[in-house]
Amino acid sequence: MNFFHGCTALITGASSGIGEEFARQLAPHARAIILVARRMDRLEALKRELDRPGLTVHCHAADLADEVQIEALLAALAASGERVSLLINNAGLGDHGLFEESDWLRVRAMLDVNITALTRLSHALLPDLVRAGRGAILNVSSIACLLPLPKMAVYAATKAYVTSFSEALRAELRGTGVSVTVLCPGPVNTEFSLTAARPTGRDRMPAPEIFKVPVEEVVSTGLAAVERDRARAIPGWLVCVVMTITSLVPIFLLRLFLTQRRRGGG
Ligand SMILES: NC(=O)c1ccc[n+]([C@@H]2O[C@H](COP(=O)([O-])OP(=O)(O)OC[C@H]3O[C@@H](n4cnc5c(N)ncnc54)[C@H](OP(=O)(O)O)[C@@H]3O)[C@@H](O)[C@H]2O)c1
Repeated sequence: MNFFHGCTALITGASSGIGEEFARQLAPHARAIILVARRMDRLEALKRELDRPGLTVHCHAADLADEVQIEALLAALAASGERVSLLINNAGLGDHGLFEESDWLRVRAMLDVNITALTRLSHALLPDLVRAGRGAILNVSSIACLLPLPKMAVYAATKAYVTSFSEALRAELRGTGVSVTVLCPGPVNTEFSLTAARPTGRDRMPAPEIFKVPVEEVVSTGLAAVERDRARAIPGWLVCVVMTITSLVPIFLLRLFLTQRRRGGG
């Protein structure tokens, strides 16, 4: 964890699940951590938990679906004088169910948080990282980025964006001292599936337990990938094997499987 010694990390979606765990694992090494999410009470509780001499924790309540609040976050950051050396774009949300039956406001929130906020924060913070000649961006995508997913069509497409954007940005930044890593978890026990479920609960897609990777392992895999300057990380050996095989299956065969997902329960 030498790489993270004395770093200043900004973590979005730090009020729960994977983001909260990123803060826990970075706290023993970082100099400062900026926690961002909407639920300030959760951020304040995490700040109390992380408290140790030599670590400064800032909490910032922001709805990342709201451009005005993102700009306010950036202004507060500039005013605080903190220079972010590690940006973890983790905040995200999903939606389980047919696209034609989806709530537009939820679809828009997915596009705004999963794509726009991640891109805006990277755009705003990158020039300082490049000027410093050192730093890292870790974008949290999903294995859903690797293939189109009926009943999670928009979510999977947003994660395809995250992965594509991260890979391209990494290539652009080669030689600058700034790395970009994309983390592609499979199913993890967090609040994610609860928030992705629709009120009817009809299209919930519980993942088989065997594929689930503990949140601690997801985060340690992501941080190890940053430390080793890896482009992409898929936590959990079984998920990794299944996704590697899936990526080798021709699309015409995948379409047969994908069409079954529309007809069947998921
Ligand atoms: N869990 C999984 O199975 C899984 C699998 C693959 C990828 N992922 C990805 O992992 C990331 C973290 O998800 P998680 O599993 O930790 O889910 P989670 O427990 O539901 O956490 C999501 C986090 O995102 C924040 N967030 C959501 N909407 C926001 C908004 N409008 N403004 C600001 N923050 C917002 C939430 O904070 P507030 O509600 O307090 O704002 C929360 O801290 C996501 O990008 C997700 O797509 C998860």
